Amino acid sequence: MKNYYKNSINKIKNFYSVKFDENNVETALFDTLNRIVEFDCGKIYYLNGKEKTLTYSNNCNITPKHVTEAELCVQGLNFGIIEIGRNKIFTEEEILVFESCATIIAGILKDIEMNSIIKMQLSMLQEGISAKNTENLIKNNFISNVSHELRSPLNSILGFAELLDSQFIGTLNEKQSEYVEDIRIAGLHLLTMVNEILDISKIESGTMNLTLRTFDLKQNVNEVVNILKPLFAKKNLKFRSKIPEEMKITADYTKIQQIFFNLLSNAIKFTPENGLVQIKSSESANNITISVKDNGCGIEKEFHKKIFDKFVQISQMADSTGLGLTITSEIVKMHGGKISVKSEPQKGSEFIIKIPKL
Ligand SMILES: Nc1ncnc2c1ncn2[C@@H]1O[C@H](COP(=O)(O)OP(=O)(O)O)[C@@H](O)[C@H]1O
Ligand SMILES: [Mg+2]
Repeated sequence: MKNYYKNSINKIKNFYSVKFDENNVETALFDTLNRIVEFDCGKIYYLNGKEKTLTYSNNCNITPKHVTEAELCVQGLNFGIIEIGRNKIFTEEEILVFESCATIIAGILKDIEMNSIIKMQLSMLQEGISAKNTENLIKNNFISNVSHELRSPLNSILGFAELLDSQFIGTLNEKQSEYVEDIRIAGLHLLTMVNEILDISKIESGTMNLTLRTFDLKQNVNEVVNILKPLFAKKNLKFRSKIPEEMKITADYTKIQQIFFNLLSNAIKFTPENGLVQIKSSESANNITISVKDNGCGIEKEFHKKIFDKFVQISQMADSTGLGLTITSEIVKMHGGKISVKSEPQKGSEFIIKIPKL
């Protein structure tokens, strides 16, 4: 009895070696499952009404005598039921193993759905976001709703990963720390992309508004730097910040954070290991100037203007949308300010923002 269970646990690992994609996912999942718990036919019922049935033997033409089912559930959210049937009774162990598999299957299905939502959004953006007709306004609305829905689970992934990383609830060994760090970094990249899609769709549809208040610039920046810490650490980058204590700015708090987030993520992305990233700010009678500087790969002069255009990337990068600088310059413009770049290849880049005092 125990042996069967042990054997199955080993087989469950199969799920992690199969490559699932949106075209074959259910078939591949059932095939894998069938190698762990034998059955004649399997069915997935999705709550949205979609169904998928697969047959593994002739016995399936008649209704199988024994059926066992499990909820497909991710983070307490049930989105369907998976069912397997055969003529021989299922043992308790088999049911237990099947239920464990159902949890893994639910995770895989959600993961694929999430990936395809993001792919779909990106391709929709590429296609039609610049046109100003009604259809595109609907698309923008849709994109902004979906992105919004994606943000909350992502925030909890990041939040819980950070909690684990703080070791507040228990000590992690070296490998566990490394994996938690990987979760945080992947989550951050995903969050950045989702935020960028959300922001550009708001800008395009003219629904981005400013909420102005007077706040402490240093605190605003520190919050962003804290979020980006794992990325700095991963590349062993040095970070220097020269924001005078008590420097106040009247602007939109989260949008100024978005500016720092975009510019700092770029500085991190385009600076090789052990490099240096610096931010500083100063004020004159009429303006507040903020600079984000790195000693990374730099930008050829001919691209200094183009990089602010939508989807422009000098070289295609994974985990990137090519929207960050477009959004940044739009936010700066909304504040009545100006953005400029000083950069030389191989030496580094400096992005300078001037925002008028209100
Ligand atoms: N600090 C930087 N150093 C070098 N190149 C940069 C830097 N920031 C931006 N770039 C260039 O400008 C392009 C556009 O930036 P951005 O709009 O933020 O898009 P993304 O970061 O998604 O590629 C980048 O792909 C890169 O080629
Ligand atoms: Mg960027």
